[in-house]
Amino acid sequence: IRVALVFGGRSGEHAISAATAGGVMKAIDTDVYDVLPVGITREGRWVLASGDASRWQLSAGNLPEVTADSGREIASLSEAGPVDVVFPLLHGPYGEDGTIQGLLELAGVRYVGAGVLASAVGMDKHYMKLVFAGHGLAVGPYVVVRPGDWERRQSEVVDRIQAELDFPVFVKPARAGSSLGVTRVDDVTGLADAIEEARFHDPKVLVEQGLQGREIECAVLGGRQGGPPRASVPGEIVVDHGAASFYDFEAKYLSDSQARTEAPADLPDDVAERVREVAVQAFEAIGGEGLSRVDVFVARDGEVVVNEINTMPGFTPISMYSKMWEASGLSYTELVDELIQLALE
Ligand code: DAL
Ligand code: MG
Repeated sequence: IRVALVFGGRSGEHAISAATAGGVMKAIDTDVYDVLPVGITREGRWVLASGDASRWQLSAGNLPEVTADSGREIASLSEAGPVDVVFPLLHGPYGEDGTIQGLLELAGVRYVGAGVLASAVGMDKHYMKLVFAGHGLAVGPYVVVRPGDWERRQSEVVDRIQAELDFPVFVKPARAGSSLGVTRVDDVTGLADAIEEARFHDPKVLVEQGLQGREIECAVLGGRQGGPPRASVPGEIVVDHGAASFYDFEAKYLSDSQARTEAPADLPDDVAERVREVAVQAFEAIGGEGLSRVDVFVARDGEVVVNEINTMPGFTPISMYSKMWEASGLSYTELVDELIQLALE
């Protein structure tokens, strides 16, 4: 079975995507799968890249990068020869947002993960919340800052945020990932700069009220043969608030000390069960397929508030998505196999 691993890409999460691809290259069962590594540069050029997993490792000193020199450039995927399935290991815009999924639909090629609509909804933190709320899931309070609002009515926007939300708030680009462009703002004086920073990544910005509670995540896999989606045991992100103000890019990928992850999370059984239910409901609400990681906050009274869904979560062997499946009895190699098999059904 020939699998094209597509990675890198035009978004700010380029290096995270390359790191996931390296993890998959190392673990994939090469008796079953013939791997074709296809890198996309930050400029959007496609190259037949190295399949040497060590080339794509991520560390504080090394953010892996696909460049025009990474391999022979190809004008289209078809130039790489026939493939049975594409694994679009891309995060963020131009990859996790329905664009490459649309390209593959047009070309009639099977691919791992969510389709066009689910990818697009899962990428946009504003529409994602509308869809969750429309399905009866609890979401936190937020204000949307549209491009025109900020350009023409800045002071009205600031007044509205102060009236509707309590500080601290988190200012986020609507369509980005890995906390890029996200700022925690503790009072009104920091708001304008944070909105400008987020607008650098996306002209549409979301201001979310900081939620109280434990940061819990749950991994979802699509059901086999039309069966219901499957949820892993939940995991927890524990941030050292002395070292990092929140789970930002550095705490996620570059530092060993600012945050740690635990899987399974130490939760009462009924709360863990509720998290798994909510994760499956969130996946179904957006029409998810293949995989997703659902991130929630669990309040002290046990209420589960959905923060977001990621339709192509980072999943190097040490990422939360794979750790939660490992803790649920599915090894990393089995997980990769399962994802490809779901796409081939
Ligand atoms: N956006 C990053 C890759 C994640 O959700 O894991
Ligand atoms: Mg995300």
